[in-house]
Formats: sequence, structure tokens, C-alpha cells
Amino acid sequence: MRGLAFWFFFTAIIYVIAGMAFGIHMSVVQDFALAPAHAHLNLLGWVTMALFGIYYHLVPKAAQGLLARIHFVVATLALWIFIPGIVFAIRQEGELFAKVGSLLTILSMILFLVIVFLSRDRQDASA
Ligand code: HEM
Repeated sequence: MRGLAFWFFFTAIIYVIAGMAFGIHMSVVQDFALAPAHAHLNLLGWVTMALFGIYYHLVPKAAQGLLARIHFVVATLALWIFIPGIVFAIRQEGELFAKVGSLLTILSMILFLVIVFLSRDRQDASA
């Protein structure tokens, strides 16, 4: 695994380590109020980013070009804004980060949809 696929997968592992530490911390202090932030860090940070990484590994041509790089930046930015946003929202400290983060999160998935579509195998006459 290399290039963009590697970076999606590598950062996903960092996010799940952070998410697990978050979960352990919640258990230690017996305060589960932030469980939705923990869940989204693991599901968007680990599961989703790792799936992106595996896809780009399996379909290397999809990782070529500017759009895939933009996808990585948007997906990463989305996570860094959305997870604190969930914390702020739960603590009733404002919802702006949650709103911006959620929009960036869906934008990242729409970008992925476009990339997957553009990278599909097309049958040609020799196939
Ligand atoms: C060391 C690893 C982990 C620990 C110690 C941990 C701990 C916890 C704790 C304490 C809760 C709250 C339970 C409650 O509210 O009663 C929780 C909820 C949750 N965790 Fe984890 N977790 C871990 C890893 C993961 C991973 C890897 C995922 C997903 C890939 C995950 C997904 C979730 C989900 C979906 C919830 C429910 C959130 C909610 O109710 O809002 N967790 N976890």
C-alpha cells in the first residue's frame, strides 16, 4: 500500500487509537456523555477512512489526480471539525462546528461517489 491509499489507511489507524483511548477514558471516569463523539471518531475516522484507503489500494487509478487528493483533504478536515463539533453540541457550547463538519463529511462522501464512478471499468471492444 502506498500513496493516497497508505495515507487514508495510516491516518485511520491513528484515529482508531485515539477513539479507543477516548472509550477507555469514558469508562475510567464513568462519564458516557460524549459517547456519540467517540462513536463518530471510530466510525468516520477508522471505518470510513480505512474503507477509502482499501478502495484506493484496490483501484490505484482512482488515487491518481487532483480529485482524490481533494477527497483526502476534505475527509480529514471534516473529521477534525465534526468530532469537536459533536463535543461542543453535547456540551451546549454551539453547533457551528457540528454543522460545518457534517456538511464537509457528506461532501467527502459525494466526492468519493464521483471518484468511484469516474474510475469504473469501462468495457471496450477488446474486452
Ligand atoms: C478500546 C476500544 C473501545 C472502548 C474502550 C470503547 C468504549 C466505549 C464506551 C465506554 C461507550 C459508551 C457506552 C455507553 O454509553 O454505555 C462506547 C460506545 C460506542 N462505541 Fe466504543 N469503545 C471502543 C472502540 C470502539 C470502536 C472501534 C467502535 C467502532 C468502530 C466503537 C463504536 C461505538 C459506538 C457506535 C458506541 C455507541 C455510541 C452511542 O451510544 O452514542 N467503539 N464505546
